Amino acid sequence: MKKKWWHGKTAYQIYPKSFKDGNGDGIGDLRGIIEKLDYLKELGVEIVWISPIYQSPFVDQGYDISDYYAIDPVFGTMDDMDKLLLEAKKRNINIVMDLVVNHCSDQHEWFQKALKDPYGKYGKYFYIMEGKNGNPPCNWRSYFGGSVWEKLPGYNNLFYLHMFAKEQPDLNWENPEVRQEIYKMIRWWLEKGIAGFRLDAIINIKKDLRFQDFPADRADGLCAGTKMLQYAEGVHEFLQEMKREAFEPYQAFTIGELFDFRPEELERYIGGHGCFEAIFDFSPHMLGGSKKGWYDRKPVTPNEFRDAIYASKELSQDIGMMANIIENHDEPRGVSHYLPEGEINETSKKMLAGISMMTYGLPFLYQGQEIGMTNKEFRSIDEVDDISTLDEYHVALANGFKEDEALKLVTGMSRDNARTPMQWSDAPHAGFTEGTPWLAENENYHDINVKEQQNRKDSVLSFYKELIALRKNPEYSEAIVYGQQMPALTELKNFMGFYRRGNIHTLLVLANYQSKKRTVTINESAAQILLDSCSEESGMAKLIKAENRIQIPMEGYQFLLLEIKE
Ligand code: GLC
Ligand code: CA
Repeated sequence: MKKKWWHGKTAYQIYPKSFKDGNGDGIGDLRGIIEKLDYLKELGVEIVWISPIYQSPFVDQGYDISDYYAIDPVFGTMDDMDKLLLEAKKRNINIVMDLVVNHCSDQHEWFQKALKDPYGKYGKYFYIMEGKNGNPPCNWRSYFGGSVWEKLPGYNNLFYLHMFAKEQPDLNWENPEVRQEIYKMIRWWLEKGIAGFRLDAIINIKKDLRFQDFPADRADGLCAGTKMLQYAEGVHEFLQEMKREAFEPYQAFTIGELFDFRPEELERYIGGHGCFEAIFDFSPHMLGGSKKGWYDRKPVTPNEFRDAIYASKELSQDIGMMANIIENHDEPRGVSHYLPEGEINETSKKMLAGISMMTYGLPFLYQGQEIGMTNKEFRSIDEVDDISTLDEYHVALANGFKEDEALKLVTGMSRDNARTPMQWSDAPHAGFTEGTPWLAENENYHDINVKEQQNRKDSVLSFYKELIALRKNPEYSEAIVYGQQMPALTELKNFMGFYRRGNIHTLLVLANYQSKKRTVTINESAAQILLDSCSEESGMAKLIKAENRIQIPMEGYQFLLLEIKE
């Protein structure tokens, strides 16, 4: 594989509204991010992706952009942005922005002009179509519920398409003028010195241009809009053009948010010839999902989690790198999602950390993950802000659940779990703001916060620091970054093991994915422990040698990284 500057790094996602408030208005901002750059540097991260900070009406928390060239005033000014870039550079941190170009905001001037003259130049910037006698052109359901079609105000039979909220009209990528506008904007930001982009919802830019009905998949008579992606042909042409015209000249780092891609097409997305540098690996996140809605989801078992990761590594590692995550701003907290209720503690959190950081690919941490932040307990639907959770709540109600049941079912998946303020300390509002936070903090900030963990050697934060440092350690990085990943001890239930075979070193990850102790046996004659998640409490694990085997007694949820000696 051709080596790239980003391969050995660790990345970190900031959700700017909830990271750090620099001026006391209760909303995180650029000054707050600048304040915390030293913290990020100390953690060891070298790539920081910031969720959208552009001008926005915030219908979908900034993923509805009304001006791509402006910083929203709640986050600060363009001067603040320039300062952030400068300060980040001093600390060797690469800033990655969010690129939301499947759609814009209905307040964007392009859409405002399209409304005034749907048959004119800007009408062609969007998908504006005639309906069927006042009914939408087809029966696709938007990601946030309801039809993807909304009537154009003032017209009886004209509709515009929105895959997400109705305030997020889809941009018409078939129109070369739109594409050129987008590339121009990308180049403008790259000129400013950002390292690259995370590409939001990018597979949606190509539609099935027949715009026809599919068989309904729910009682509302609609069919998930994603269905059309199976028939949409030609997304790669758009993406290759964008790469050529906008990214390549700047050697930009690009990471795609890509659900619903065809596995046999992976080579077209990553690796030397792919349209992106990397894409996120969402395979564990798809587990337990249901077409019916969040209310119908199943909990994820350790074996399913493990097998999903095995499978995606097998698919991808000879092609290119995917980014490994356990959570992001659209997901519940990883520790609440992938660990059984009642077994979420620092030991099990460290185990997940170890798995995610040692798996082949680019590790991406989400703010608060490094201290083991958990899901929030929502007591009423009024505490929820997220547009998607509100939709799913109504879906649950419509399917016969009572209000308290629906609340419990959907808030476990709510995107707001990840959007509560970052827990910096046990000061009021978790030290996030001196004002009133825009979204209430998780009450457990007294126990879980950066300040408490910073100087404690056995904290989750300290463990992440060790993992990140090991990835950069010149001795082991070739195995951790490039080593082939091979499943190990697959016959064990509630266990995850894998080798990372580098050219010089062979490492073995052992994760006891259960609360019960167990003894595992590996067919190796000599090994050495590089990392032990329990060493602070119970001393280093023991390696008991017998002939050509080693027995290792493991605590519940213990994580071990071994170096195999031949
Ligand atoms: C992506 C974003 C999500 C947003 C959606 C629409 O999935 O991550 O937060 O709601 O796209 O832009
Ligand atoms: Ca602020």
